[in-house]
Amino acid sequence: MPSVYFQTFGCQMNTADSDTIHQLLSQRGFVLNDSHINSDLIVVNTCSVREAAEKRARARISEFANGKKNHQGQKLWVTGCMAERLGDALILDIPGIDLIIGAKQMERIDDVVESQFPKCQDDDNPSASIFQKTTVTDFVPIMRGCDNYCAYCVVPYVRGREMSVPYDTIESTVKQKVDAGIKEITFLGQNVNSYSHDGIDFPELLSRMASISGLERIRFTTSHPKDCTERLVDVMASSPKIATHFHLPFQAGADRVLSLMNRKYTSSHYRKLIDMIKKRIPDVDLTADILVGFPSETDAEFRETLSLVKDVRFTTAFMFAYSPREGTAAAAMPEEISKAEKMARLAELIALQTEITREIYEKTVGREFEVLITDRQQKRDMAWMGQDRGCKRVLISCENAVAGMIFNVRAVRSSGMTLIAERIES
Ligand code: 5AD
Ligand code: SF4
Repeated sequence: MPSVYFQTFGCQMNTADSDTIHQLLSQRGFVLNDSHINSDLIVVNTCSVREAAEKRARARISEFANGKKNHQGQKLWVTGCMAERLGDALILDIPGIDLIIGAKQMERIDDVVESQFPKCQDDDNPSASIFQKTTVTDFVPIMRGCDNYCAYCVVPYVRGREMSVPYDTIESTVKQKVDAGIKEITFLGQNVNSYSHDGIDFPELLSRMASISGLERIRFTTSHPKDCTERLVDVMASSPKIATHFHLPFQAGADRVLSLMNRKYTSSHYRKLIDMIKKRIPDVDLTADILVGFPSETDAEFRETLSLVKDVRFTTAFMFAYSPREGTAAAAMPEEISKAEKMARLAELIALQTEITREIYEKTVGREFEVLITDRQQKRDMAWMGQDRGCKRVLISCENAVAGMIFNVRAVRSSGMTLIAERIES
């Protein structure tokens, strides 16, 4: 059987796209390989959000291209955002690439894969049923693209305009996954809050999904603060299946910077939103994306970011130094902050957030809560990994567990960003 090796960079949308390509290939007889060396096909799914991500992907692609001479007939595909941004120019740079599949082509990925590996017409083809997920948690993209054009961001250019997946497609995909043993679904989109199809908006979609029996947990990412409504938070609060986790990127704490970023909200709007969420979902885990060193950001403005972080108390945060991206509005803005200054601000922010994360985990010790067992912890006997209803990772020591079980535990210790817990009888 032919084999395929995947290397996926970037966001969860890329993970979901790699899964889709994997599924299409497995319907054509491909098996997954955990090494690139003997694979017949290598797929590198790339990210363009920051320059560092592109550099890492380029290095890997070059390495794979050079290695092709050791495996006759080996093919190399490059997919995702960098493939979209650079297109065939990437093949001129790295001649070993056989196929470029830009992020926008994910809409018609069935045809792309079919053009490379036509599917056998025999309905009894046993390979069609080989694709099986072994996990209990999975992603379902509900919309693609982004219309927001934040000044720093390349996503609207490489992923294109917003497009919502038809509701019926989402419902049947979720039901199929649940039938195959999936317990938790994460709905994905660059801005899930602007989901809209045939009169169904995002809160309506969530509340309909919450009634699917067998689906135990629902998560979603990413949200834009300008589109986050009370109705959405009410739906989250009303269903125990919907995770008590809200990922709400705020990027910067100063209104002048937010306006330059084209974020369309102010720091006080964001704070009010957080207060409203905390009131309705008292145990909520809040997380965010935060960007430091945007062109012309002053030290005082950076301190406003720190003060917002202190006030909100995120469980964790993804923190980045601004990286100029060609073609975006910010790339043309003057007063770029020096690399040393950006790195110093980032280090200060990370130190503050790390301390807050530690305190939040520490405060959870002694509490009882529900976990979903996701997988076995390979290195220890009787140890399982799980997640609470928010976003905390939990290590549970117990006998007779299997992935997919949900039960109550008590946190006995916290180690960095993991809670150590023991099962309690309910
Ligand atoms: N430089 C650094 N970080 C960026 N992000 C998006 N564009 C850039 C950039 N040019 C961050 C934002 C976004 C997350 C996915 O990546 O914080 O929310
Ligand atoms: Fe990029 Fe802004 Fe769209 Fe998020 S909302 S993908 S940061 S343009």
